[in-house]
Amino acid sequence: MRFGKTPVRVRLGIGWVVGACVALSGVAACGPATPGGTVEVFSWWTEGGEKASFEGLVQVFRTQCEDQRFVNGAVEGGAGGNARGVLATRLARGAPPDTFQAHAGGELSDYIRAGQLQDLSSDYAAWGLDRVLPRTLVESLRVDGKIYSVPVNIHRANLVWANPTVLAKAQIGRRTPPSIDAWIKDMKVLQSWGVEEPLALGTGWTQVMLLETVLLADLGPQRFRTLWRSPAQWRSRDVARAIAHYDALLDFTNADRDAIDWPESTALVTGLQAAYTVMGDWVPGTLDSEGLTLGTDFMWFPVPGTQGTFQFLSDSFTLPVGAKNPEGTKCWLRVVGSAQGQRVFNIRKGSIPARTDARPSDYSAYQQQAMRDWTRAELVPSLAHGSAASTGWLDDVTTAVSEFSVERDPLVLRRKLVAAAEAHTGR
Ligand code: GAL
Repeated sequence: MRFGKTPVRVRLGIGWVVGACVALSGVAACGPATPGGTVEVFSWWTEGGEKASFEGLVQVFRTQCEDQRFVNGAVEGGAGGNARGVLATRLARGAPPDTFQAHAGGELSDYIRAGQLQDLSSDYAAWGLDRVLPRTLVESLRVDGKIYSVPVNIHRANLVWANPTVLAKAQIGRRTPPSIDAWIKDMKVLQSWGVEEPLALGTGWTQVMLLETVLLADLGPQRFRTLWRSPAQWRSRDVARAIAHYDALLDFTNADRDAIDWPESTALVTGLQAAYTVMGDWVPGTLDSEGLTLGTDFMWFPVPGTQGTFQFLSDSFTLPVGAKNPEGTKCWLRVVGSAQGQRVFNIRKGSIPARTDARPSDYSAYQQQAMRDWTRAELVPSLAHGSAASTGWLDDVTTAVSEFSVERDPLVLRRKLVAAAEAHTGR
């Protein structure tokens, strides 16, 4: 079956013939093929498992939307920091790509409120997406009753990836620490065994990830959620404690942290220089593409103190106002939301499909666990990956955290975090 208005090829025993018509995309589709066009897809998936999973999705697009040509508008850089800058310039110039990647939640709302996205509510109904996506997720895509993007996956952010060989060397074995304090103790043990920089860390956005998971550990899910509504929460003692923990953790990280992105910091763990890194579950996809095996070559556990909580983010694709080829783009979006597209993409990406009708046995043991956790755990949004707050708020926190990496003044960091919360909640 093909999507869009392209005639469907029907297998008739002796070969492929072109000619059958179907009503897809909510459009009566008999008649001549549309001339087609190009669909520029803007993302930041350019390396390792991310690139491979994205290519899988593109392959499905090529078969399902065969009169459309894919154009890769990807901009390199973990978590999309660089991509968002380029995108902002293009949106301001009125020259958007046909579709761009945006995180469900606060980040998406920014684009919606700026009037930059088209409403996809009726397409959702036509494509049956309203029946197969989890309500929590759809709510993070909706503004004023309308839905503006199609989610392809759900990632978990509050995870530690660890090297069992390095842990064994320090006689820690596969012990997973229950709290940040216990984790810090283990890092001291690792240092005493010669692992000088046990916690691998990268540039600004990865530091935001570490800080927000420590906040989650020290505040718990309930009060963590309040951070995004009430600036008063940022003044609390628990936030001060979390900043002190974060400051302590930085002492165990690599000196070049401000100069490297997540693939390099993860490589410090697999290369035996570090024991741990905090990162989302795009790690197994990439390590798998390097021939490493989860369970043997690397292991995972929730960030200490955040067990039972699933800090989520979701990658989604949009239809910008002013997109040159809306029909071709809708074919892309249908692929993004389809069972086949999500299976091909997520199997390699490490995330779980956004759709609820996926067959767990198609996925790795880790992903099957993530599917169970997604339905049972407490769900909280991620700041670093756009689900908790607006991009402006994230940018202010990233600047504060990057400055802290150099200045190391906890009081100043706290003041900046409070100021950011006040500025972005309007209080
Ligand atoms: C996130 C994105 C993930 C992954 C990660 C690292 O923002 O949602 O899919 O790409 O960045 O680049």
